[in-house]
Amino acid sequence: PETITVQELANRMAERGGNVIKTLMKLGVMATINQVIDADTAELVVEEFGHKIKRVSDADVEIGLVAGPDSDAEKSTRPPVVTVMGHVDHGKTSLLDAMRESDVVSGEAGGITQHIGAYQVKLATGARITFIDTPGHAAFTAMRARGAEVTDIVVLVVAANDGIMPQTIEAIRHAQAAKVPMIVAINKIDLPEADTQKVRTELLQHEVVVEEMGGDVQTVEVSAKKRMNLERLEEAILLQAELLDLKANENRAAEGAVIEAKMERGRGSVATVLIQRGTLRVGDTFVCGKEWGRVRALDNERGERLEEAGPATPVEVLGFNGTPEAGDDFIVVEDEAKAREVSGYRQRKDRETQFVKSARGSMEQMFERI
Ligand code: GTP
Ligand code: MG
Repeated sequence: PETITVQELANRMAERGGNVIKTLMKLGVMATINQVIDADTAELVVEEFGHKIKRVSDADVEIGLVAGPDSDAEKSTRPPVVTVMGHVDHGKTSLLDAMRESDVVSGEAGGITQHIGAYQVKLATGARITFIDTPGHAAFTAMRARGAEVTDIVVLVVAANDGIMPQTIEAIRHAQAAKVPMIVAINKIDLPEADTQKVRTELLQHEVVVEEMGGDVQTVEVSAKKRMNLERLEEAILLQAELLDLKANENRAAEGAVIEAKMERGRGSVATVLIQRGTLRVGDTFVCGKEWGRVRALDNERGERLEEAGPATPVEVLGFNGTPEAGDDFIVVEDEAKAREVSGYRQRKDRETQFVKSARGSMEQMFERI
């Protein structure tokens, strides 16, 4: 049978818990705020308050939470979201840093002041590229496992002196599984032992056919260290983005995904959220995984306060009531009641899952002993 806690019922009606308890008393039911009551009793209470009854199954709170697709007319071009992957020490961080230095904005503002897991580079031409700066494939896989498909393009970094290595192959598999197009950055071409041709041939063995071999995968020979051909890499990214025809509606309530989240002393729970459509504003109420909150402040990677953030913009969001997890969805909702309802439902569901898991675990242990 369907049940609800007194607190939850009060939340859904936007009434005080104390008043709900009093009403229950009037109906001859003695209950505390955390007590569970059945749906029929709840219905009587709702009627007492003069509210309209809309019985929904618990899971219904998720329906319509994410809006349907936007029409082409509502959408406009957005920047590409790029994830850099590759074998250890092949130069992922160096390449990201080098490209970030070419960012006209951070050049003006005096560089990056904090790490937020994702950032946007504005090129001299005005074009923008969003880079996800999470360490390694684990983050990419974890995000995908939680249903967050945020990456439009993978830049595969291969050191020309080292060639294809185990984690290169792993990265290729991830990109292929996610059906995300790849651009190969052949790095460290400043080294005398660099063999770019060998890299191209080796890629062929893993079903990556580069343009020079008649395929459609772009390669760019770069040196992160000597800052060679970085512009060509950026051009390759923008060309790929154009082919993908990346668009989003910025004129709607924001939806996005958590890139990373942490608890910070003095600031509370903060999360880097990549906005995927719509525009997020200070004051917006949101649901995020099992948590919810109200946007208290939006910061960019330079620690500057923003009033709003549109599609493909990564922002650090303050105002969470709990710490979400990487890959969690982020959805702006109409009001606090809705946010509480969804987050409450998700937390209950999570607790049930945990309970089933631990029950199963102890059963297995029991059988082991037998
Ligand atoms: P992990 O994060 O540990 O997987 O490594 P990474 O892929 O981020 O590589 P990182 O950028 O840390 O570079 C590894 C080493 O290669 C460092 O010593 C860099 O200085 C060096 N390196 C990176 N790019 C180049 C390059 O273009 N040329 C040369 N010669 N060295 C480079
Ligand atoms: Mg690194």
